[in-house]
Amino acid sequence: MMELQICIGSSCHVKGSYNIINIFQHLIEEYSLHDKIDLQASFCMKQCRHHVSVAIDGEWHSVSPETASQFFQTTVMAKIK
Ligand code: FES
Repeated sequence: MMELQICIGSSCHVKGSYNIINIFQHLIEEYSLHDKIDLQASFCMKQCRHHVSVAIDGEWHSVSPETASQFFQTTVMAKIK
């Protein structure tokens, strides 16, 4: 099971982490990935100067609400076992 964490620290919150969580939840629903992806909220990942911090099994990425859907469909989907 993949651990997909989205930072909800104050800086990422302002940059739209809740939008990204919604987008990811929607896509998990659409592709029936509930048993493959564990979506979690995370505290600050100490990368606040970038876009919203997202970690796939601990591997950090910078994602904005505008790129979230594409990020999911390429980077996240490619790593699903
Ligand atoms: S608030 Fe998200 S990395 Fe700091």
